[in-house]
Amino acid sequence: MIRTPSVDVLVIGAGAAGMMCAVEAGKRGRSVLVVDHADAPGEKIRISGGGRCNFTNLGCSPKNFLSQNPRFAISALARYTQHDFIALVDRHRIAWHEKTLGQLFCDGSAKQIIAMLTEEMERAGAVLRLSTAIDDIVRTEEGFDVRLSGRDVRCTSLVVASGGKSIPKMGATGLAYDIAERFGLAVVPPRPALVPLTFGPAMLARLSPLAGIAVEEAEVGHGKTRFREAVLFTHRGLSGPAVLQISSYWRDGEDIVVSLAPGVNVLEGLRAARARHGRQAVQTVLAEILPKRLAQAIVEAEGITGNLADCSDKVLARIDQAVSAWRIRPEGTEGWRTAEVTLGGVDTAGLDQQTMAAKAVPGLFFVGEAVDVTGWLGGYNFQWAWSSGWAAGQAA
Ligand code: FDA
Repeated sequence: MIRTPSVDVLVIGAGAAGMMCAVEAGKRGRSVLVVDHADAPGEKIRISGGGRCNFTNLGCSPKNFLSQNPRFAISALARYTQHDFIALVDRHRIAWHEKTLGQLFCDGSAKQIIAMLTEEMERAGAVLRLSTAIDDIVRTEEGFDVRLSGRDVRCTSLVVASGGKSIPKMGATGLAYDIAERFGLAVVPPRPALVPLTFGPAMLARLSPLAGIAVEEAEVGHGKTRFREAVLFTHRGLSGPAVLQISSYWRDGEDIVVSLAPGVNVLEGLRAARARHGRQAVQTVLAEILPKRLAQAIVEAEGITGNLADCSDKVLARIDQAVSAWRIRPEGTEGWRTAEVTLGGVDTAGLDQQTMAAKAVPGLFFVGEAVDVTGWLGGYNFQWAWSSGWAAGQAA
């Protein structure tokens, strides 16, 4: 009789969180097998940050994350911090720089981060098996029997690191949610996040000619949440960092408010210009603070035909409103096709915040994007992957 091969730890998913977990478990002397259906590890790392991987953020703290339980991430983020990951990157002599807002990128290529992790795995004795499907998982007295592309493997700890649903073309699946539900864990409904917002037909007819225009510093708000970063007009709606950030907070049927010139007293400026140069066209004044085509579009949308002297205070207030507090109701988002991350996921109520272990299923762990912890844009999502993977690696 052939005995079923066994390992201490089986990690499903050779992404950021899975590889970090494998390294740590391996260092503790556990035998580790990492499996992935893709034919290369860390595919999302490879394409991240425009090929340079925004691998963490200097200012990372629990307030940069969304979750039904905002306190859940505190422990893992404190046990393995951005500074721990930076130290690892430094040990591998990978050069990096801060781009903006604490965001750290490789000087060279994101592939260096993948090479670092695979090298660390090798050193820790973790084995990587690619192009492998997960056919079935059965719980046993000692752990789990997992059928991998037709071959059974036995493990005492099973770490689910298969990510979220964003970008199916890159191999994203809902496997983690299926496994969670199968073992009785709740799943917070996943939805696309860090994703461009789209407009309905009427708004699009008016705004699509602006596609390609960027406002370098805008402020986009939803309720009390605000992000001051760039906004980009697209053929389908709005994108750019500030819009991606707010997409994680926005829900169907709600409004967002955009200030196209934050920190500028537009009404005051228009009044002063009217007093000094009444014959100036309104768009000429607006073009001092906005891209020219955008200034023109705002003036047209407000139906203004004359020059500044022809504008009453009421009209100037309307223009100010359009620039400083442009209220929009997006029709939707671009969806999983372009979403950078998944909001929601395995409900943290069923997980131990120290170890990422399922409270009710000994030996089962969930890490990374699969869990209902979602970071802002700016390196936070990788930090969650490193921190949660590290935490599980100490216990699996
Ligand atoms: P990840 O998705 O990385 O890994 C999951 C692994 O599981 C994959 O290798 C996948 O093939 C495998 N898998 C899935 N289903 C499977 C199945 N059914 N069977 C077997 N294997 C399966 N974040 C950030 O902090 N900085 C950045 O610069 C960027 N940039 C960025 C750009 C783009 C275009 C995207 C789409 C995303 C980002 N992100 C980011 C987000 C970041 O990539 C993401 O949060 C992490 O990769 C999540 O790491 P995980 O290991 O949890 O999942």
